[in-house]
Amino acid sequence: MMFKDKKFVLGVCGGIAAYKSAELCSWLRKEGAQVRVVMTQHATEFIAPLTFETLTQSPVYLDLFAPPRAYEMEHISWACWGDAFVIAPATANTIAKMAAGIADDALTTLYLSFEGPVVVAPAMNTRMWQHPATRANIATLEVRGVHIISPETGPLACGEEGEGRLASVRTIVDNLAYLLSQTVTKARTPRAHPETDDTTSFQLADSDGPLSGKTVVITSGPTHEYIDPVRFLTNPSSGKMGCALARAAAQLGATVHLVTGPVNPTVLPEECATIHKVTTAEQMLLAVEALRDKADVFIFAAAVSDFRVDRRIEQKIKRTGNSLTLELVENPDIAQAIGAKKRPDQVSVGFAAETHDVEANALCKMSRKRLDAIVANDVANPRIGFESDDNEVTIYVQNGDKRFISRRPKEDVARAVMEVVVELLQQKQRNKQV
Ligand code: C5P
Repeated sequence: MMFKDKKFVLGVCGGIAAYKSAELCSWLRKEGAQVRVVMTQHATEFIAPLTFETLTQSPVYLDLFAPPRAYEMEHISWACWGDAFVIAPATANTIAKMAAGIADDALTTLYLSFEGPVVVAPAMNTRMWQHPATRANIATLEVRGVHIISPETGPLACGEEGEGRLASVRTIVDNLAYLLSQTVTKARTPRAHPETDDTTSFQLADSDGPLSGKTVVITSGPTHEYIDPVRFLTNPSSGKMGCALARAAAQLGATVHLVTGPVNPTVLPEECATIHKVTTAEQMLLAVEALRDKADVFIFAAAVSDFRVDRRIEQKIKRTGNSLTLELVENPDIAQAIGAKKRPDQVSVGFAAETHDVEANALCKMSRKRLDAIVANDVANPRIGFESDDNEVTIYVQNGDKRFISRRPKEDVARAVMEVVVELLQQKQRNKQV
C-alpha cells in the first residue's frame, strides 16, 4: 500500500470537478491513508459532505464556527495532524484567497496554519486559468513552495475545450507519492556530498532491481552538424536529461549504454554507463544500430539536429561581401528508423520538445516513430527544458495512459520515466506469456 500510515487533509472547493475528489479520497483510503476532508461552502453545492464522511469515516470540516465536537479547533489540530494538505479541485477564488492570505472559511484558515507540504490541483474554465490574476496567484503560491499540479487540456464542463480540467486522480496520487518520498528523503537520508545541497545523490545500482539483466540504450545531448571545419548547426541541449536517465536506469539494475552528442564531459555518468561519444546524427544512428539487437529498451532523449548541409565545405568559409546560401538536407530520424525495425519485446520511449499543441504533436510523434511512450515538455516555458536543471513533463503511453510530472529536478523526472519503462517491459512480458 502506497500510503500506509500516511495522513492527508483533502480540501474540496466548489467546482464541477468536486465529484472527482470523492474518487481521489477513496483511492487514498485504498492505498492505506487516513483522510480528513475540509470543504468550502460552495463545494457542498456540488457534492454532499456525507459522501466524504462515509468514505473517510470521520466528520467533514466545513464551518469555522460550528459547535466543537470534541472541544478541538480543527484549523489548528488538523494542521499538525496531516502529512500533506491536498486541495483538489482548487478554484480560482480559493487560489486567490490563499495567495492573499485571506482566511475567511475553514479551508483557507486551515491553509494558513498548515505545517506540512501543500498540494494544489486547480480546475476551472480556460480563460479563468489563463487570466493574469490567476497566473500571478499561482506564481505567488509556487514561490512559497506550494506544489501545483497543472490542469489538463480537454473538454470542459462548460462545453468549451481547453486547459483547465482537473489533473487525473492517478496524476494527483503520483504527485503525492513523489512529494512524500521527497519529504522523507530530505529528512532521513545523509547527503553523499555534504558540501553541496545535492539531495538526489547517486545510489548504488540495485542488482535485484526491476531492470537487472536488461540493457538500456539512451541517446542524449545535441548533435553538431558541421558546415565547414569550424562552424556547425546545433541546439542548446545540455545532455542532463539523458545522463539522469542513464543513472536512473543503472540504479534499477540495468546495463546502460549512453550514446551522447558533444556535451560537457563532467555531466557524463561514466560510473554507471558505457559512453559512446558521437558528433553527428548519422554517427548517432550508426552507434544505436550497433547496439540494436542487445537492447531491451531504447530511450531517445537526444535533441538531434533535423538538418545538415548536404556537403560539408572543406575549408573555412570566407566573407565575400555577398550573402551566403546554405542548402540543408534532412538527417535520419533515429527514433523512427529504430522504431520501424524494433522487435515486439523491445520498449522504446521518445521525447517531444514542443512550443505549441504539445499533446497533439506528442501523440502524433509517438505513433509515427512507433514509440511505446513519449515524454512531452513545453519548451516555450523558460523555467524548464533545455539547459535547466528542472523539467516538467507529461508522459503519454500507447495504451492511452497519461501522467503529468510537475516541475522537479531532472533526476526525479528520470525516475518517473523509468517507472513507466519498467511497467511497459512487464506488460510486454505478460503479452508474451499469453
Ligand atoms: O520530431 P522530433 O525531433 O521532435 O522528435 C523527438 C524525438 O525523436 C526525440 O525522442 C528525439 O530524440 C528523437 N529524434 C531522433 N532523431 C532525429 C530527431 C529526433 O531520434 N533526427
